[in-house]
Amino acid sequence: MDGLEQSKIPPETSPISHHDAQVNNIRIQAWAECEADERHRRCKLVDLLAHKRWAACWKVACRVIDANGMLVLLGSRGNGKTQMSVELIRRACIDYEPTDMDLSYGRPRKVARYIRLRDLHMAIKMAYGLNAQITERDAVVSLTMPHLLVIDECQESSDSPWAAQTLTYVLDKRYGLMKPTVLIANCLKPQFVKLAGSSITDRIKESGGFLMFNWPSFRGVK
Ligand SMILES: Nc1ncnc2c1ncn2[C@@H]1O[C@H](COP(=O)(O)OP(=O)(O)OP(=O)(O)O)[C@@H](O)[C@H]1O
Ligand SMILES: [Mg+2]
Repeated sequence: MDGLEQSKIPPETSPISHHDAQVNNIRIQAWAECEADERHRRCKLVDLLAHKRWAACWKVACRVIDANGMLVLLGSRGNGKTQMSVELIRRACIDYEPTDMDLSYGRPRKVARYIRLRDLHMAIKMAYGLNAQITERDAVVSLTMPHLLVIDECQESSDSPWAAQTLTYVLDKRYGLMKPTVLIANCLKPQFVKLAGSSITDRIKESGGFLMFNWPSFRGVK
C-alpha cells in the first residue's frame, strides 16, 4: 500500500467486496507505476498543507486539473512545485474510477505519469535508432494515454526546433483529448512564455493557468 496512505481504502478489518478490492488494487497499481520520485512519494499531504501559501496554490491547482486544464507551476528552487505535482498524481490515482476494461484485465491503462522534459525527449528519440524497439507513435501514445501528465524541469528545454515542436505536438494532442497536464519550470512567466511558444501559451490561457511559487525554499529548513 506504499504511498497511498491518504486513499479511500477502508481499514483491513472491515469487510470488503471483491469489486472494491479490485478497484483498490488498480488504484494502488496506478500510483506504483506513475514514475514519480521516491523523495516526493513519501510525503503526506496533511503535512504539506501546513504551509499556507502552498495550501492556497494546492486549491487552485486541484480546480484546474479537475477542469482538465493545462497548469503551469513556476518559481525558484525548492519551494514545492514538484511535490505539488506528485500530490496531484496521487489524487488522480486515488480518485480513479476503473473502467470495465480495466477490471476485466485487472490493470489500468496508465492513469498518471511524471516525466522530466529531458526524459520525454529521450523517450521519443529512442524510437529513431535502427534497432528501436518502439515506434515514435508508441512513444507519443505513452504521453497522451495517461489521464494526467506532469512534465517537470521545462526550463531544461534545448533550443532545437525539434524539441519545441515535439513538446507542442504532445501538448496539443492532450489539449484535444481534454486531458489535464502540469508543466513545471524554474523561471518567471515571461521566460516560460518564450520557451513554451505561442501555441502552448494560448492553450494555457484558454484552459488553465499559471501558479507562482514565490516563497523561500523548503530545502534545509527541516
Ligand atoms: N508544503 C511543503 N511543506 C514542507 N515541505 C515541502 C512542501 N512542499 C515541498 N516540500 C519539500 O521541500 C523539498 C523541495 O520540494 P520540491 O522538490 O517539490 O521543490 P521544487 O520547487 O520542485 O524545486 P526545484 O525547482 O529545485 O525542482 C522536498 O523535500 C519536498 O518534499
Ligand atoms: Mg522540482
